[in-house]
Amino acid sequence: MTTVLIDDIGLLVTHDHERPEVREAALLVEDGVVAWWGEAASAPSADTRIDAAGGCVIPGFVDSHSHVVFAGDRADEFEARMAGRSYEAGGIRRTVRLTREASDEQLLATATRLVAEARAQGTTTMEIKSGYGLTVADELRSVRLAATLTTEVTFLGAHVVPEGNRDEYIALVTGEMLDACAPHCRWIDVFCEAGAFTVDESRRILEAGIAKGLGARVHAGQLGHSDGVRLAVELGAASVDHCTFLSDGDVEALAGSDTVATLLPGVEFSTRQPWPDARRLLDAGATVALASDCNPGSSFTTSMPLMVAFAVRDMGMTPAEALWASTAGGAAALRRDDIGHLRVGARADLAILDAPSYVHLAYRPGVPLVRHVLASGRRDTPGLQQMPEYGKLV
Ligand code: NIG
Ligand code: FE
Repeated sequence: MTTVLIDDIGLLVTHDHERPEVREAALLVEDGVVAWWGEAASAPSADTRIDAAGGCVIPGFVDSHSHVVFAGDRADEFEARMAGRSYEAGGIRRTVRLTREASDEQLLATATRLVAEARAQGTTTMEIKSGYGLTVADELRSVRLAATLTTEVTFLGAHVVPEGNRDEYIALVTGEMLDACAPHCRWIDVFCEAGAFTVDESRRILEAGIAKGLGARVHAGQLGHSDGVRLAVELGAASVDHCTFLSDGDVEALAGSDTVATLLPGVEFSTRQPWPDARRLLDAGATVALASDCNPGSSFTTSMPLMVAFAVRDMGMTPAEALWASTAGGAAALRRDDIGHLRVGARADLAILDAPSYVHLAYRPGVPLVRHVLASGRRDTPGLQQMPEYGKLV
């Protein structure tokens, strides 16, 4: 048995129901799992000791929404939006073209770099979607490459209709493409929005995935109100993501369900859309998660601390709520109970901050406050992020 003691923790966030936060704490990891925590003064001994130097220790971030298998960037679109242009879902097709032209090695190198970049900022679990291939062969290689980096792989053949006949493409997504991709995935997702897929099309696509044993997730409410949110609730989706535009009925439906409302404020930052109203969802009793939506079009960032900062500054969340949403909330959106918290028995996925409190994640925006990351109790050093094995997230 290998034991690691993290000592001299100024503030430990456990998300434990009875003791969510402990001051002057220590935490013991046994074989990659949290085995004990409490006052530092009564800490047991261990094979290895890590000195948190009075810093805050938080559960590793659970980023439940990303699209990191792609080629090329769209900085020119971002620049045009900052000058007043609006976001268009059609930009996805540009990335599809470049992704199809790229080699497996190029795609994996980019995805690995982004996963490692996220890890250095405290992310220990990352969901990864396909959706920039949109042929059977290109979607299959996207999910296969994603599966080398995470167990949370999502089939998003229904990102947009790439070219050709709409009905034929939907038949492909729900047929041959789904059959090829499903064995490598845990989830199916659909972009249910004007310019992408209608509510009826989305229902057909999600039902086909559910029949194949995949869990449902939905992109909805990014660019305007839609019945996609209700569809997600009705189908028992684990999460409906974006939720920037919600009717009162949508909020009520979410609050009465176990579908998580995942907010992606990197998109609002990068598209100059209104911020999603986290307060309204929380006050209604909905479960809220925060995720990066890392993708080259609408949110090219891997930074979960930045999402926390946006949520606190502009979305009505307290620092504690934003931290919960970016850790335990992400875990709920992935229907995982082994991550997103540091209760005894949890996977020892955590970040040691160079700050006395998680409040600093929002108070010191843009500052690299994550000093060390442990994934399954294994220490990771942000400086080693170029090495592929350090990028591996499970
Ligand atoms: O989540 N909304 C759909 N997909 C991405 C955007 C992808 C793109 O613009 O390339 C999103 O925002
Ligand atoms: Fe997305």
